[in-house]
Amino acid sequence: MLILGIESSCDDTSVALLDCTKKGCFIIKETTASQIEIHKKYGGVVPEVAGRLHAEKILPLIEEILKDSPKPKVVAVASGPGLITGLIVGTEAARALSYAWNIPLVAVNHLSGHIHSVEVQEKNSLNTTNIKYPALALIASGGHTEIVYIKKPGQYKILGKTKDDAAGECFDKVAKLLDLPYPGGPQISKLAETGNPKAIELPKPMLNQNNFDFSFSGLKTACLYWLQKNPKFYLPDFCASFEQTIVDVLVEKTLRAALKHKPKSIILGGGVSANKKLRETLKNRLSKTLPNATLFVPSIKYCMDNAAMIAVAGYYQAKNKKFTSWKKLNANPNWELGE
Ligand code: KG4
Ligand code: ZN
Repeated sequence: MLILGIESSCDDTSVALLDCTKKGCFIIKETTASQIEIHKKYGGVVPEVAGRLHAEKILPLIEEILKDSPKPKVVAVASGPGLITGLIVGTEAARALSYAWNIPLVAVNHLSGHIHSVEVQEKNSLNTTNIKYPALALIASGGHTEIVYIKKPGQYKILGKTKDDAAGECFDKVAKLLDLPYPGGPQISKLAETGNPKAIELPKPMLNQNNFDFSFSGLKTACLYWLQKNPKFYLPDFCASFEQTIVDVLVEKTLRAALKHKPKSIILGGGVSANKKLRETLKNRLSKTLPNATLFVPSIKYCMDNAAMIAVAGYYQAKNKKFTSWKKLNANPNWELGE
């Protein structure tokens, strides 16, 4: 099944054409226009600017992907959660294509895209990603941090989520305190490579609470106070200690949820899943705690927002005939996974 994916929920305008079969979902063509260089000037994503840039890019990107390609059978669009200014651009484009070509449309939850990002296969790849269900996913991005139980594709239950800031947001805000450019996650993790993760003790939020929820705003405030009190410090040590703190909390809560729910697969997804320390720590701890569970992580390219993952999630919905009429499609900035 040829499926066109569209993603515009934050600061990437992305369009991808995938061929999804029983063997897997293979990229035919993909293209992404990142807005990061523009938002960098403001220290974070400015919704109005994002909306305008998505609107400028979406049609040229769709044209580029469809040039010399066969007509897709289905169009899949991320219709929430995210910034309304961006979501509207993607959903309007998808609506127009569904109407004009008379092809079915699937409205994809952006977070289900991050979950299925581990299944995106490069063109001609011989790998197969055989996720066994039930699965458990840790999705950590700039806007979300959630532990999700997946009985089978499309059946999601949120076991825990952040009460305030997302993990990526915490990386970005602490990077700002350190005068590092947006997005802060990659900057902090690069600096952390040469630092001592035990140099500074920071609070590990919610770790002593018997649930699968997170909270990262207190950690951000603790960093602010620490930096005010200690004007002279070694930046790599601070970055390594901060990164270790976030990773410990994410991994510990995921393992607790895994021990309780005994999934066959563990999936890591979202922008923060590009973090090397998080990938390694989860892999090591999992091999000791739940050796029978298989860990799936996206290739670095598909950790960030992209349309290929939206197409894969859309494929499962299309297989289950979960279509949305172009007349009824709505952008939903607060769409909770599982609703
Ligand atoms: O999934 P994503 O591209 O966009 C959202 O849906 O939010 O995630 C972006 C987030 C940013 O907060 C960024 O700082 C974080 O992912 N991020 C990282 C790393 N790479 C990206 N955080 C920690 N370590 C990284 N290597
Ligand atoms: Zn995302």
